[in-house]
Amino acid sequence: MLSQVMQGAINEQINNELLSSYTYLSMAVWCEHKQFIGCAHWMRLQSEEERIHAMRLVDFLLARNGKVVLQPIAQPEIDFESVVQVFDKALAQEQIVTQQIDGLYELAFNEKAFAALVELEWFITEQVEEEKTAREIVHKFHMVEDDSAALLDLDRELSQRAPEAAASKA
Ligand code: FEO
Repeated sequence: MLSQVMQGAINEQINNELLSSYTYLSMAVWCEHKQFIGCAHWMRLQSEEERIHAMRLVDFLLARNGKVVLQPIAQPEIDFESVVQVFDKALAQEQIVTQQIDGLYELAFNEKAFAALVELEWFITEQVEEEKTAREIVHKFHMVEDDSAALLDLDRELSQRAPEAAASKA
């Protein structure tokens, strides 16, 4: 049985992942409104992945006979200066999530919550990948800067993103 502290921390992370999903949806909407259709597609898939992350934690809590307590999701940012800024913020958000996951892992370690440690290892590996992907895209955006033709090429490249089967337990 998970301790109350551990259950509280996992519930908090469920909310963090849902806020992350909500934020990516907000970014998708902004991109689509600005006609960056490939970026919007990428963001929609990312939003869906974050929802799956939240569901992994929901399922884990249920499997450990813990109590899932869903909290209100904060309003995400809705206005951005540029598509470059959108991806800058996406990377910054992933870096924050990495810190959250690290904190959760440390807590699980201190609480001797061994099953949680195993579950959280998946998230640690996932964060390495998510930060790497976001950093690569940010780098490309900063290389093309305001070159419209190159921006369109990049948008087209991002439209090729396929759903990640590995992110789902289904
Ligand atoms: Fe669920 Fe992108 O971290």
